[in-house]
Amino acid sequence: MDSVSDPPFHEAYKILFDKTRNTIQENNGFDTDLLVAAEECELPVIDLSCLENSDETVREECKSHIARASQEWGFFQVVNHGISSHIFSRLRCEQEKVFRQPFEKKTKEDKFLNFSAGSYRWGAPTATCIRQLSWSEAFHIPLTDILGSSGSNSLSWTIEQYATTVSRLAQTLADILAEKMGHRSSFFKENCLPNTCYLRLNRYPPCPTAFGIHGLMPHTDSDFLTILYQDQVGGLQLVKDRKWIAVKPNPDALIINIGDLFQAWSNGVYKSVEHRVMTNPKLERFSMAYFLCPSNDTVIESCREPSIYRKFSFREYRKQVGDDVQKLGSKIGLPRFLTHEGSSNIGST
Ligand code: OGA
Ligand code: NI
Repeated sequence: MDSVSDPPFHEAYKILFDKTRNTIQENNGFDTDLLVAAEECELPVIDLSCLENSDETVREECKSHIARASQEWGFFQVVNHGISSHIFSRLRCEQEKVFRQPFEKKTKEDKFLNFSAGSYRWGAPTATCIRQLSWSEAFHIPLTDILGSSGSNSLSWTIEQYATTVSRLAQTLADILAEKMGHRSSFFKENCLPNTCYLRLNRYPPCPTAFGIHGLMPHTDSDFLTILYQDQVGGLQLVKDRKWIAVKPNPDALIINIGDLFQAWSNGVYKSVEHRVMTNPKLERFSMAYFLCPSNDTVIESCREPSIYRKFSFREYRKQVGDDVQKLGSKIGLPRFLTHEGSSNIGST
């Protein structure tokens, strides 16, 4: 039974199902690879306490490990990241409270809990077929709405505490990745300020409908890097060697993934890998993603020549992604920005 806080997923499903039934679509619009069980694997685990080691070789080895995982996987886990488990339990508690509000209240256009209008999302408003429906709801919060306004409620206060800590971790990782490309620069410190970043609270309700539905559609992230905190339910999958693999939850780890902007900045060295979330028939799942983003005016330009992507501002990138989602139901992303050089390389790899 749906509660008053759940979005009308069943209705959305039915509408899309009927729409699809009347058109001739490959596999009736379902994603058949949702039916094949993905192999479960442990992502590379990186112990960040090594960065504090007095031995320089240990520190450098740890940095190389981070860069290697970003090239080969685009995803890794970090342990001993320095963020206390207390803050995660507080966040979890606040996250549950906010999602338990009535659906009507969550969708209200006027400012809910001081977040900008439009921070609440569910399903996939632009979905044209079932494979574009996401059985989840989220608050996608610009941190500029939260920072400095803290104290107005316990959710904002907790988010502010977390954002302060997690942004330090994001900067450290971004600096290491830049350094490993031969760039010691203040680019990330200058352009990705805590208030240009986003925090996304995700909730995946149980999905009793038998098959063919994503918790979150396959996508890449439109940022430099993402720090994901997830509970122990599992469901996150990513593409490795052209196959979907399932990430085994690790209670001590945070998951890091490279986003599109780092792939462009590193000229394709670091990989922004497609990932998705599977639904669970019985269990509710929560996760929280911190997106390291620059200001809208920041220009993203490859640090190496010949560049496979043309330079673009973050504003331009977001607009293109938004337009594609509106028009096509899903994003195209970086391929839109390939140079001639990039297009010919794609063909040869
Ligand atoms: C995201 C995302 C994965 C998850 O919010 O962009 O990929 O496990 N989330 O919730
Ligand atoms: Ni993502």
